[in-house]
Amino acid sequence: MCGIVGYVGTRKAMPILMEGLAQLEYRGYDSAGVALNRGAGIDVIKRCGRLQELKKALPKRSAAKCGIGHTRWATHGEPSDLNAHPHTDPSGELVLVHNGIVENARELAGFLEAKGIDFATETDSEVLAALIAHEYQELETPDLFEAVQSALNRVTGAYGIAVMHTSVPDEIVIARNGSPVVLGLGEHEMFVASDASALVSHTRQVIYLDDGDVCRVRAREYEIENLLDQHADRQPVTIDLESTRYELGEFDTFTLKEISEQPDAIRRVLRGRLDKRFNTAHFGGLNLEPAEMLGFKRIKLLGCGSALIAGSIGASLIERLARIPADAESAAEFRYRNPIIERDTLYFAISQSGETYDTLSAVQEIQRKGGTVLGVVNVVGSSIARQCGAGVYLHAGPEIAVVSTKTFTSTVVVFALLALYLGRMRDLSPAEGGRIIEALEKLPEQVEGLVARKEEVAEVAERYARFSDAYFVGRGESFGLAREGALKLKEVSYIHAEAYPASELKHGPLALIDEETPTVAIVPDDDLYAKNISTLEEIRTRGGPLLAIGQSDELAGFVDDCVVVPQTHPALQPIVHLIPLQLLAYECAKIRECDVDKPRNLAKSVTVE
Ligand code: F6R
Repeated sequence: MCGIVGYVGTRKAMPILMEGLAQLEYRGYDSAGVALNRGAGIDVIKRCGRLQELKKALPKRSAAKCGIGHTRWATHGEPSDLNAHPHTDPSGELVLVHNGIVENARELAGFLEAKGIDFATETDSEVLAALIAHEYQELETPDLFEAVQSALNRVTGAYGIAVMHTSVPDEIVIARNGSPVVLGLGEHEMFVASDASALVSHTRQVIYLDDGDVCRVRAREYEIENLLDQHADRQPVTIDLESTRYELGEFDTFTLKEISEQPDAIRRVLRGRLDKRFNTAHFGGLNLEPAEMLGFKRIKLLGCGSALIAGSIGASLIERLARIPADAESAAEFRYRNPIIERDTLYFAISQSGETYDTLSAVQEIQRKGGTVLGVVNVVGSSIARQCGAGVYLHAGPEIAVVSTKTFTSTVVVFALLALYLGRMRDLSPAEGGRIIEALEKLPEQVEGLVARKEEVAEVAERYARFSDAYFVGRGESFGLAREGALKLKEVSYIHAEAYPASELKHGPLALIDEETPTVAIVPDDDLYAKNISTLEEIRTRGGPLLAIGQSDELAGFVDDCVVVPQTHPALQPIVHLIPLQLLAYECAKIRECDVDKPRNLAKSVTVE
């Protein structure tokens, strides 16, 4: 999704902006640009395509010490040089980069056109630049900060923006509503970014803007007000990110790096959260007393994409271990169906980035109606984490590849822990709690063993990568895994993949099973093993190629290919079955020569509706 960077200080801005944009590449983009404020004028350079294209177009050197930059993911208007950011007002004196969507752009454009302003592009961002410039001219004493405030009072929609004007070559004005903007505080220099990863190599002291904040940024000072001209007191926080962890290291892709980091990610999720005295789990940040926890009669998990799927597995685990009715729902659907918010329902908002607009809006809807919502979030200090104010951090470390892998695993482990905690408050016996803890402690090593079997899965992938369609089937929590396996395969290898509960196959999709349509079946050693074997027989009879991921050696007798994973506690089966599914998607993508880290049309963090 779109990314913003900015710099004002004593150093040359251009290399700092380009370095920041490179750090944001992982979010997905189709064009990029920078604006360099020389005082005598602003140079705007922008190109469709990757950063290399922009680099080729940059001047050899630029003395500008103030600038802004952007990576764009097209929403209004196709990807092109013209539509790329930064955008200028008609005079070329004001430049702006914008994340988000101005919902009343058409109406604002009409207002400005009536005043004789023409637009060169089809973007809502150009309208916003022109509107700020218009407000600037209307002021008795021109001031960029005030012009931004005044313009934003007329805007509906989501935005994170950074704006410059030729008349103030040492100033950037930034503002936020629904799309993140972070200010990084340096020594006689300031950094701006939409994602802290873009400035962490320069400073750890940051201020996260809140919705409605407008901030004047200069090398040695900043000033924050809301849209009503009231001073806003925002305290700097120290972020705990290591810039080196964004490097590829020995790996070819971030996807493989992040799949391989899963044992450590699980260790971090577990660290300090296992209570062996009472055979339960504990969490530092829930901010709810045990009595309050006991009062909840229902649990609802909300998220989008993989976060939603991880939530569906989490809901099953909560029902299984704590016997509390639980379900997962798409945050995007939830927020628009005027949901009934109940006092005795506990809501969880799940998000790796903590910036997904639909999930953030669902949180706000719950809070507006008086409900209790906790975050399960990876990025510390992100919008959803701050909006919830309480919850559980995944501590999975930065996830750069567009598709989620280690954060999916970490989310499922968090819910296994929450299910253990809630279960031990109710009917789960200490002995069973102890067995789950024992299995959790073995999990990182088991996952390590599975990741090390990459070549075995690569060999299987050789036989499956050529197909155009595939089914993924499973029952119970394994149906959740089938959904995740299918999503991963289609995202990175562009093979059309559909997930079905194994029990549903004969109610329709079996019609499509033939020699050209393989099925990946998740077959744990559980009470439904025999039922799953019947499903495998149904597929085999129709000639469909079959790959099983399961725990029994016997499976090999029923299928064409089989990956056998280790035994664990039934509640943790999803984790051990997941790793071969991730590797399968990865290997198929490699064979098909797809850009596995940056699948087409997808963005890491979806900050628009
Ligand atoms: C799939 C994937 C997406 C995200 C979804 C939510 O591999 O990564 O489906 O899970 O866009 O993102 P977050 O978790 O950042 O809210």
